[in-house]
Amino acid sequence: MLHGRRILLIISGGIAAYKGLDLIRRLKERGASVRCVLTAGAQQFITPLSAAALSGEKAYTDLFSLTDESEMGHLRLAQESDLLVVAPASADLLAKMAGGLADDLASTALLATDKPILVAPAMNFRMWGHAATQANLATLAARGVKRIGPNSGPLAENESGMGRMAEPLEIVAAVEAIFAGAAALTGKRALVTSGPTHEPIDPVRYIANRSSGKQGHAIAAALVQLGADCTLVSGPTEEPDPPGVKVVQVTTAREMLAACETALPVDIAVCAAAVADWRTEGTDAKLKKKEGTIPSLTLVENPDILARLSQAGDRRPKLVVGFAAETENVVANAQAKRVRKNCDWILANDVSPATGVFGGDQNTIHLVDAQGTEDWPSLTKRDVGERLAQRIAAFFKAEKST
Ligand code: C5P
Repeated sequence: MLHGRRILLIISGGIAAYKGLDLIRRLKERGASVRCVLTAGAQQFITPLSAAALSGEKAYTDLFSLTDESEMGHLRLAQESDLLVVAPASADLLAKMAGGLADDLASTALLATDKPILVAPAMNFRMWGHAATQANLATLAARGVKRIGPNSGPLAENESGMGRMAEPLEIVAAVEAIFAGAAALTGKRALVTSGPTHEPIDPVRYIANRSSGKQGHAIAAALVQLGADCTLVSGPTEEPDPPGVKVVQVTTAREMLAACETALPVDIAVCAAAVADWRTEGTDAKLKKKEGTIPSLTLVENPDILARLSQAGDRRPKLVVGFAAETENVVANAQAKRVRKNCDWILANDVSPATGVFGGDQNTIHLVDAQGTEDWPSLTKRDVGERLAQRIAAFFKAEKST
């Protein structure tokens, strides 16, 4: 499956462009999101409208169109993808890629990316056999560009030979194989907490905090992308459910703890939720405003979910990761917290109002473990999720080899 995978599909000129449309459908059926770029050649065979209708997203065609640039620069187009697929890849586009040309949107996106690239060549058999095409393919292979096909069979103009584009389902299998190569957490079970908790004061009022859930949701999405079987226990947030993740919605800290305990046993637990430390004793009836009296709330302590999951015992996850949202002495406080809560790693971040971390898209993390501290650069929350998932995969890989 390709849940949550973002694919930039570049369709170049050739009769096989119509199969590019089928490929959009096949990739989407498997849960991928697909954005399309059509070269001028592709537009001789298919229309941007068909690509947009099938992908559910605008289809991009023009490097210099001001609207395209203001909505979605060519750099972002490539960077916001996990994989670039060129299908069909014409001899001309392969030559541009090999030569580093960037004279239209497709070739510019291909030059401006550091993401993996898969090409599905399609052309006449003489063009395929030409020394120039073969040299270009060798150059691209040496740079790590992956290739599927072409196949041998009937070609346009009543000819036959090597040059038929691989079938859409073969291309999908190649795409899945590329991602499977990265599926380092297959077979691992993960639990992630996310969002705030709401603690009722009475049936209409509650205590809450500003957590958006963006970071926890991004971590769950990244763990699933590496093949983990992931349960996300989330407090109330506006965030959409990440694809492929089992989401359990809760409201209070006690509900969150119960849902986490139900999800055990797991190999990995990441507590990213901003759990309310206290709850009120609560009342079943709405507090009434009375002239001259101000009600006082009696607070009682909530369970510490991270500390509970970190408790020794045969149900303790192999790796327990907590967060420390601090406004001062970020790393020192995180080190103390790691020991106090008995978790393995703490991701410490500065949440002073000036950082904009709460509710924002960026996060600057210091990973604290028993060995020391690793400072990460400022990253998007999505990238923090991916980096953490990679770090977790490396942890299990090292475990296996010891
Ligand atoms: O103690 P503090 O709230 O700063 O600890 C933060 C870490 O502990 C976070 O990983 C948070 O998800 C977790 N936590 C928890 N349950 C609580 C309080 C915090 O899991 N009641």
